This record gives sequence, structure tokens and C-alpha cells, in this order.
Amino acid sequence: MKIAVLGMGTVGTGVVKVLNTNKEKIESLTGEEIKITHVFAKNVDKARDVDLSGIEITDDINDIYNADIDAAIEVMGGIDHTYDIMMELLNNGIHIVTANKDLLAEKIDDLTEAANKNNVHLNYEAAVAGGVPIIRTIENSLNANQISEVMGILNGTTNYILTKMTVDGWSYEDALDDAKAKGYAEADPTNDVEGIDALRKIVLLSRLAFNRKVDIKDVPSTGISNVDAADIQIAKDLGYIMKLVGISKYDDSISASVEPIFLKADHQLASVNYEKNAVYVNGNAVGETMYYGPGAGSLETASAVVSDLIHVLTQPANGNFQPAEDAVIKNKAVEYQYY
Ligand code: HSE
Repeated sequence: MKIAVLGMGTVGTGVVKVLNTNKEKIESLTGEEIKITHVFAKNVDKARDVDLSGIEITDDINDIYNADIDAAIEVMGGIDHTYDIMMELLNNGIHIVTANKDLLAEKIDDLTEAANKNNVHLNYEAAVAGGVPIIRTIENSLNANQISEVMGILNGTTNYILTKMTVDGWSYEDALDDAKAKGYAEADPTNDVEGIDALRKIVLLSRLAFNRKVDIKDVPSTGISNVDAADIQIAKDLGYIMKLVGISKYDDSISASVEPIFLKADHQLASVNYEKNAVYVNGNAVGETMYYGPGAGSLETASAVVSDLIHVLTQPANGNFQPAEDAVIKNKAVEYQYY
């Protein structure tokens, strides 16, 4: 299978490394080589810590449209321009694997419609909770359940900042700088710290879990940029840990939000620290389930991206999940809550 990688930053370089390091194992599953033939990158000449020799690196998207490829990995981010590129590729019969939660949270229904029309995969395991395998878990493994609740720590950057402040006594600014240096934060971390990144992820999870199209504009969110050391200390003194949590519940309508929450110190999510994410799902047959792992990072996110590629090669493209109905969302005021 010939593929193009769109974007060669933290996740793109991780994908190259995973494909190289685990080549034999991957080929034993797929029965064929996965060969990166093209890379689309803003900066063609930039030095990168992966070997891209033999790969055509271009900053002209037409080179990708004209390339003889079967699938494209989209890890460059962006919304409007990236949407046009993905639509063009889907309509040309190219499978897409993407980690782009920003775009998916706004446009997943349109993209899915195009993918299904063209009988290709649109896979996005890496878009929610990085390396934690939560998308196919809800879509496939839990699909016999009616799910009543999804709740989780869905942003590695803010969890890293809150943990550094709570456990290690760091300042907000130092912790944010460190999260940026470690590659957890987005290029512009505003969406991380303002809760927008977690909002996008809870929207995608709600859509899957409750089988409804969810309009992101209906879900309120607040971030952690106003949290200071005193808030965290007061919470600690009272036996609580502050976490940024996305919550979505279903009972005829959906009630969803993202907000900083005071968790009892013995709550399962309270011990999810640093860049780790965790997702809780409650289904009427299985009961309570939890999924835990790295929410960000190069190889960690690439683990999910490459799994999506393997899925393209090993599973039929016979219809990506698409809810038939729109959600009814009961807005819940964003406020500090205690769990
Ligand atoms: N900036 C994101 C986070 C990366 O911190 O969780 C993974 O989506």
C-alpha cells in the first residue's frame, strides 16, 4: 500500500518511526508493505530526526492529488483548508487516517458521508485520547450496549499542568512551557488550556456512544487558564483533586460539558496524572468500564495512527459509522462540580 503523510511534525515523525521499527510485525498482519511515497509539509528542507530518503517531500498539495497512493495520513491539523484537502482525497477514492479532532468535531458527518459514498475508510483512533484505544472500543467492542455515560480526562496538556501544580508544586506557566517542550500541547496551546481540545473530543465520543450527530456549538466548555495555585491548594486541603473533565450523559437527551472538576482523592480519575488520559464508559450490559493511557506524544499517538492504517488493509471499507439522528442537547451550566 502506498501512502502519503500530510504533516511531518510530532505525530508524523512518530508514524515513520513506528512503521520502520515494527515493519515485520505490521507486514505479518497486513500481508503487504506499507510504503510512504509522499510527504506533504510546509517546510520541505527542515531537518527532521527521521530518515525520509527516497520519499518525495512537497509543499504543493497538487503533487499529493496527482500521486499514485492508496491512503493518506492527515496529521497536519487545521480546519477549513484541511477539510478541502480531505474531501478531494476521499472523492478520489483515497482512504484517510486522521488525528485531527479539530476538524472532525466540526465536520465528521460530512467527511463520513463522502467516505461512505466513495467506499473508503475514514479512521480516527488517534483523534481522541492519543494512544488510548477508545474510538474502536466504543464503535465496535461496546456496540451491544446502550451507553448512558462517557466521562474522561481527555487533554494531556491540561492534565500535565494540573498534575505538575498539584503534585510537584510547579507554577502554571512553568508547567505549560514544559508541556509544550514535551510535544503534548498544540502549536498554539490556547485550545488546550481553554478546554476546546477536550470539548472536541467529548463531542466525538458522545456521537459514537449515543449514536447521535452532535453539534459542538451546543456543548459548553471552560478551561483551566484561570486556575491558580490557591484553588489547587484549597481543593487539596479539602481532600479533592482538580481535573479538567469532559462529561456526557444520555437519557432521552444528551447533557454534556467540559469543565474543571473537584474529584474526591479516591475517585478513579483522580490518580490519572501527567499527560495520561482516561475514559470511563457506562453501558447497560457491560456496566462500568475504564480505559487509561497516554493522551499525547509522538510514538504514543502514532501507535493509534498506524493501527488505523492496518485496519484499512485488513478490514472491508463497508461503511464508516454515521448516526442517523441529530442529538437533542440539554445545556448544562458550566460550574465547579464535586464528584
Ligand atoms: N494537545 C493534545 C493534548 C494532544 O494535550 O491532549 C493530543 O490530542
